[in-house]
Amino acid sequence: MSNTKILVIEDNEDLSFSIAKVLKKEGHSVFVSQTGEEGLDIFQKELIDLVLLDLKLPKMDGLAVLHTLKEMDPDTAVIMMTASTDVKSAIEAMKKGALDYLLKPFELEELKLVVQKALEMHQLKVEVNRLKRSHAKMYPADTLYGESPQIREIRNMIHIVAQTPRTSVLIQGESGTGKELVANAIHYASKRANKPYIKINCSAIPDNLLESELFGHEKGAFTDAKAMKKGLFELAHTGTVFLDEISSMKLSLQPKLLRVLETQTFRRIGGITDIKIDVRVIAATNTDLGELVKNKEFRDDLYYRLKVMEIHLPPLRERKEDILLLAKLFLQEFKKEFNRKVQKFHPETEKLLLDYSWPGNVRELKNVIERSVILAQGDTILPEHLPVELHEQTTSSAPVMKPSGMTLAEIEKWHIAEVLRSVNGNKSQAAKILDISRSTLREKLKLYQIS
Ligand SMILES: Nc1ncnc2c1ncn2[C@@H]1O[C@H](COP(=O)(O)OP(=O)(O)OP(=O)(O)O)[C@@H](O)[C@H]1O
Ligand SMILES: [Mg+2]
Repeated sequence: MSNTKILVIEDNEDLSFSIAKVLKKEGHSVFVSQTGEEGLDIFQKELIDLVLLDLKLPKMDGLAVLHTLKEMDPDTAVIMMTASTDVKSAIEAMKKGALDYLLKPFELEELKLVVQKALEMHQLKVEVNRLKRSHAKMYPADTLYGESPQIREIRNMIHIVAQTPRTSVLIQGESGTGKELVANAIHYASKRANKPYIKINCSAIPDNLLESELFGHEKGAFTDAKAMKKGLFELAHTGTVFLDEISSMKLSLQPKLLRVLETQTFRRIGGITDIKIDVRVIAATNTDLGELVKNKEFRDDLYYRLKVMEIHLPPLRERKEDILLLAKLFLQEFKKEFNRKVQKFHPETEKLLLDYSWPGNVRELKNVIERSVILAQGDTILPEHLPVELHEQTTSSAPVMKPSGMTLAEIEKWHIAEVLRSVNGNKSQAAKILDISRSTLREKLKLYQIS
């Protein structure tokens, strides 16, 4: 690998001179500094690939420089150089994130080898991170589709909150509206994309276990605590925690979460020291948290802290323009998955899809399309490939009538007319929904003079 930038921080001028000479000969650009301070200065100005760092430096010592370098960029590749009498410090440096070390005095051949190895390892790491990022971008399950103004606005919001990696986010919306998708998108669009992303569903874990899941416990904190256990917040350090169904977190646990949000610190159960972490919290709920606050079932301070950045996902029935767009995307997806030749929706199928109220939102739509792709024989998805709810919907969403003053015959007449209207006059379809034969339907139409 050539044309890499290597920074040598070494106060022994003779040594840094020969190191620089060897590395330049290998085709690298080399920067040399005698002190840690100057080295950090160069590091900030240049895009350095690798740092060769002396452990014993005047004023700021090597370990402190290493620490600052890692703070500036956790991915920096550093090789420590240390006197052979100080192996302990070399190991300490490895623990702090140095890639390798050279014991002085070293042969220049050895230097070349260690540098080459470090650069290869670093290159590999960069490549893995790049792949992870592009994977996150390409993976269709993480894309929030839709062209309604609401969804466009949400995509915009995701973009904005992704830029502020500390801000907590509250995602509200009915079941199946895409809350988890939004949480994923925020994580993967943010600087934390390559860091841990830990999801936990607060309603899926019994109340008494949730605290130790989230915050961990010390050995002996309670009867079953036979060993220290790290909590999810600790494991998610530098990354993102997604707290799904936050509304089911019990009141007594909420102050501890609030403290994490406000100070980024917490204690393990039974612990006496504060642990500092750096995480972004994304919370989601499909029940109205504001209502819970009113009923004193959720702490208002936590609610307001979470609400700073709120994303509300509207139900599908409030963004009808997305229905067919999503349906077509899912059609393509399942067609590929099941290797089918189905191409399109019949206009009447489209109408049924549009008229339905979608209580299960996008998840329900996705399931309906999956089912219809499996059922469809030809190249078109017909109304009969849709589940029965979608046929009934038009009827029940029709203007409410008051049956009290109507005779049975009037109700029957009205109902048949409604069903016919809902299927655009398709008589086979109507007969199917009404669960009567076509000839019975014909008779009734004649009887009630429905055309
Ligand atoms: N705008 C969208 N574009 C593409 N797929 C979507 C969209 N919204 C939701 N989905 C898909 O619908 C399904 C449900 O989404 P998701 O799990 O994010 O919903 P949710 O709001 O978290 O639901 P719940 O409240 O039940 O947990 C997923 O398969 C998801 O990929
Ligand atoms: Mg969800």
